[in-house]
Amino acid sequence: MNRFMDKVAFITGAASGVGRATARQMVEEGAHVFGVDIDQEGLQSVSDELGEQFHPENVDIRNRESCHEAIEKCVERFGKLDVVANVAGVVRSHHVTDVDEETWRLIMGVNLDGMFWVTQAAIPHLEKSAGNIVNVASNAGFMGQAYTVPYCAAKGAVINMTRALAMEYIKSDIRINAIAPGGMKTAMTENWSAPDDIDFELMKSYTGFRGMAEPETAANAICWMASDEAARCTGSILSVDGGLTAA
Ligand SMILES: NC(=O)c1ccc[n+]([C@@H]2O[C@H](COP(=O)([O-])OP(=O)(O)OC[C@H]3O[C@@H](n4cnc5c(N)ncnc54)[C@H](O)[C@@H]3O)[C@@H](O)[C@H]2O)c1
Repeated sequence: MNRFMDKVAFITGAASGVGRATARQMVEEGAHVFGVDIDQEGLQSVSDELGEQFHPENVDIRNRESCHEAIEKCVERFGKLDVVANVAGVVRSHHVTDVDEETWRLIMGVNLDGMFWVTQAAIPHLEKSAGNIVNVASNAGFMGQAYTVPYCAAKGAVINMTRALAMEYIKSDIRINAIAPGGMKTAMTENWSAPDDIDFELMKSYTGFRGMAEPETAANAICWMASDEAARCTGSILSVDGGLTAA
């Protein structure tokens, strides 16, 4: 497939997991990808793998100015912008009473603020290209999950921010959608640690029946949503969670 031939994509969280898998697939299908992350080593390894079609940029998306600068740099480098995939995210697991301000700010900063700043900077360019944005939410944006309250709050906000953005641009050619994956085998889950004394009974409802997925399952959904095949989708939230939220 060549769904992204001559397209320019800006991907956050491109150094690892879903972001990396999305960059790989878009490059394979012809895109030039401007990949941002704070993990410089990871970015370098993606760059080594994908070659000249991939431009790595060290950006902390929590900072508004950095997001705006990165979008401008992407357009300078590749001449335009067609697709934004807001993939970067972080999760931490705590009892609510143990969440300190730094943790709350980290979760909101990466999962929500960064997505908003990138989106804000990208929209004028996407208006010119009739481009689109795909945000990565989570099953945690639909479900009340114990021990990850800030993450659930941020992902729930991502879902409704996506809908609100879609409505603000409903009379334009821009499309703004989200995908909501369930558990995947990435650094995020490999490094996940929970407090020692959690009640595992509370966790049952969000482990599901179909196990953990590969990050490519979410990347496939992002690529479909970002392609012309999804031309009718805007304000859509596509669950890619093995039926976790169907119950
Ligand atoms: N892995 C899962 O089980 C799962 C489930 C549902 C949703 N998600 C979502 O999928 C997305 C991708 O997660 P993943 O599983 O690939 O995790 P991952 O940890 O492999 O990748 C996340 C990337 O985001 C980057 N990042 C973190 N803080 C950043 C910052 N301030 N600025 C720029 N980049 C930053 C990290 O360095 C990392 O490369 C996230 O939004 C996550 O919430 C993941």
